[in-house]
Amino acid sequence: MYKKLIDKLEKETYLTKEEYLALIKNRDKCRDYLSQKAFAVKEKNFGNKIYIRGLVEISNYCKNNCFYCGIRRDNENITRFRLSKEEILSCCKKGYALGFRTFVLQGGEDAYYTDGLLCEIIREIKRLYPDCAVTLSLGERSYESYKALKKAGADRYLLRHETCNRAHYEKLHPKEMSFDNRLRCIEELKALGYQTGVGFMVGSPYQSEDDLAEELVFLKRIEPQMVGIGPFLTHRDTPFRDFKNGTAELTTFMLSLIRLTLPNVLLPSTTALATVDPFGREAGILAGANVIMPNLSPVSTREKYALYDNKVCTGEEAAQCISCVKLRMEKINQRIVIEKGDYKDEL
Ligand code: 5AD
Ligand code: FES
Repeated sequence: MYKKLIDKLEKETYLTKEEYLALIKNRDKCRDYLSQKAFAVKEKNFGNKIYIRGLVEISNYCKNNCFYCGIRRDNENITRFRLSKEEILSCCKKGYALGFRTFVLQGGEDAYYTDGLLCEIIREIKRLYPDCAVTLSLGERSYESYKALKKAGADRYLLRHETCNRAHYEKLHPKEMSFDNRLRCIEELKALGYQTGVGFMVGSPYQSEDDLAEELVFLKRIEPQMVGIGPFLTHRDTPFRDFKNGTAELTTFMLSLIRLTLPNVLLPSTTALATVDPFGREAGILAGANVIMPNLSPVSTREKYALYDNKVCTGEEAAQCISCVKLRMEKINQRIVIEKGDYKDEL
């Protein structure tokens, strides 16, 4: 019965919420079959290519106070940092030499990075590396700001919605944060022509299996070019310190459902997944993911960008990370490619 549902999902690329829910509830009975199908679809569409994205964590200042996040405004136990334009460019230089053709500038919502400064940084990266994509992951900004950044050369934007259920959103965030504004931002990014990434945490506090089923219906409707998911992990200095961590098994199951629902999507096997399980990076790929985002940030600031506890790879130089990832991928017959890896409607 579950096999039939999975075959239907593969063929039609969507199910009803109830059907998704039936699979999620019975995941122990169908996980192997599902992940084989999802991996086969990934192989059919992308071969054994794995795209890499160089992550540059530019600032851990954040005006927000999300209950789950280690760099939330109220956390006084971390040392705040921000990278200068020169430091960011030096990360890109290192990254380019290592084969990265996408740079992801990620940070908290930090007013220091005005549109003017960001545009300068983006223009400079695109001038020096015209064969590279610039991805931004800098939270909620105005339409005018997104437009200016796009015009300066930004190609992609990652803005996880965190949950598609409004009531759940309100349990993860303080009152001053708005679900509607988050969705507005995502719509505007799409309208401006960004390759847009959304995403959510798996196993976040108060999340139900019903919510997870709804996420898949939501993703099918939004049709993002990228989807970032990872297990929720506690951080000792947040209000959610005593909750349970999300699991690798549920995260990989969701990755497979996403691969079959959005066959062409760019889908990372995330650092959070690698943090809950030593085989997490590989498990994500074998479940249908096709992107890895190694860290290009200076080793001196890495530990300070702790969204959750025990984050892996904080002590490694970029070069060490890339050779580690290369080796891990070779062991599962996958290969890291030196490509920009844009989203394609038709593969
Ligand atoms: N556990 C897992 N993921 C987290 N993020 C933030 N805090 C945590 C946490 N404690 C994720 C959010 C955010 C992305 C940058 O990191 O989904 O969008
Ligand atoms: Fe919101 Fe960090 S405080 S993602």
